[in-house]
Amino acid sequence: MFRNLRNNFDFHLRNKIKFNRPLSPNAKIDDLAIRMQSELREFLDLFRWKMVLEKMDLVPGDPLVIGDIGTRTFVIAPVLDQIFRELNFSPEVHGFEVDAYRRFTNFRSRADYGHFYAMQIPKGEYHTQDFNYWNGDLHIALLLNPFVTEEPLLRWGLPRKFLRPEFLFDNTHKSLRKNRGILLVSSPTIEEYRIAQYLAVQSGFRRIQEETWRHSDNSLQGQPRYGALFI
Ligand SMILES: C[S@@+](CC[C@H](N)C(=O)[O-])C[C@H]1O[C@@H](n2cnc3c(N)ncnc32)[C@H](O)[C@@H]1O
Repeated sequence: MFRNLRNNFDFHLRNKIKFNRPLSPNAKIDDLAIRMQSELREFLDLFRWKMVLEKMDLVPGDPLVIGDIGTRTFVIAPVLDQIFRELNFSPEVHGFEVDAYRRFTNFRSRADYGHFYAMQIPKGEYHTQDFNYWNGDLHIALLLNPFVTEEPLLRWGLPRKFLRPEFLFDNTHKSLRKNRGILLVSSPTIEEYRIAQYLAVQSGFRRIQEETWRHSDNSLQGQPRYGALFI
């Protein structure tokens, strides 16, 4: 109860006091971010993206719109761009973050980094907004570690009103419908994984591949990623 009130207050405050400390497009990507990108690459490489593109009847040269929902700093943008460029596509990569004005100790916000990573790729866009209010169409959606229970959401500093996982999965399904697109979901615990799988199926998705990425002792992410691809 108290935590929710505090999160509500803090969230309101950081969205009122918005200021930018943009990074130069030529800024060096720090070592932690590079390690994070390589861990994300390891996880994403577990999935059969070539088969996914074939299932959507896409061939190189066709538009390919990817959305990372709940992207935090959008550090994943160059990783996604690279994976699909290696398959001869020229992807348009969107990142959505509802809590984009949360700040790090250097006073830079997630949005400052988000716009920076968007600039690192040919077609990147960082959206400082709730994905549920975006009306575009995607070919591939990523819901990596979405909040499906209250405890992690409160721990990450969001107010309880943002816990609407059914709505989020339904809207993700709608954004993919026109392109008969694909969803990748990951969860850090088995409990959240089961809930996320249930929600995906309830929204109309069918699972086509399951993989687990295991963290090592020195990995940045202290938890595994239980992942599944849906069509
Ligand atoms: C647990 S974090 C996961 C971060 C990252 N995707 C990962 O896997 O490491 C969930 C993120 O989703 C964001 N989020 C939650 N609901 C959202 C929504 N409706 N639209 C956009 N972002 C959302 C949160 O603010 C948070 O940054």
